[in-house]
Amino acid sequence: MNIKKYLLALGVVIIGLGLFFLNYSNSAAEESVTTVKINDVVNTAQASQGNHRSLIVFFTRTKGVYAVGEVPIGHTHRIANYIQEATGADMYEIVPEKEYPNEYRATTEVARAERDNNERPAIKGSIPDVSQYDTIYIGSPIWWGEYPMVVRTFLDQVDLNGKTVIPYTTHEGSGLGSTTAILARQFPQANILEGLAIRGSNADSDAAKTAVQTWLQRIGVLGQ
Ligand SMILES: Cc1cc2nc3c(=O)[nH]c(=O)nc-3n(C[C@H](O)[C@H](O)[C@H](O)COP(=O)(O)O)c2cc1C
Repeated sequence: MNIKKYLLALGVVIIGLGLFFLNYSNSAAEESVTTVKINDVVNTAQASQGNHRSLIVFFTRTKGVYAVGEVPIGHTHRIANYIQEATGADMYEIVPEKEYPNEYRATTEVARAERDNNERPAIKGSIPDVSQYDTIYIGSPIWWGEYPMVVRTFLDQVDLNGKTVIPYTTHEGSGLGSTTAILARQFPQANILEGLAIRGSNADSDAAKTAVQTWLQRIGVLGQ
């Protein structure tokens, strides 16, 4: 009888201990889930707070794109988005007053004429006041080895001297082309950082997103 009572008490203790440990491990698991959630909240808060001392400028096209025709988001726009996700910076898209043709070939002809005549096609809407920014990312596809002339229109209307200027391009072989040289000539007092060139056909990829993050770390914009 005594032994039965003893075994019963032992059983109760073992089950109790079992429940205790089960509960502990559950709450430990819950705690780690909560930690992840808290981190998410912090990250979201930082992203939504944004970084309003930096501006990501870009020009892009979704029609007449080399090799693919029409795309839902322009190649350079994708790179701009990756930079925005990483930095929380403000964004501004250069939109030309007059649309380019829908076909690639026809666009190259219009673009070549604009370049040969050193034109400055009008920009739709107003240009942001860049005086409130310390850092300006200038993003563009490469056209005929350099900036499309509508990007030159933008550059003529702002003063980036004294600012940190960061070029990035998408292209199909020309890399940064002469974009960095153009910026250096136009804004001799700007601090022009190493630019990033991504092949347009690779812009919609994890590899491109990673390349953007690695580059931002290398040039000191993001923590290592
Ligand atoms: C008018 C025109 C001229 C181009 N010239 C070049 C060039 O000289 N070198 C090059 O590598 N790519 C050139 N490309 C390809 C674009 O730079 C490339 O497709 C880019 O990723 C397009 O980006 P977007 O979708 O943001 O406009 C040219 C494309 C167009 C439409």
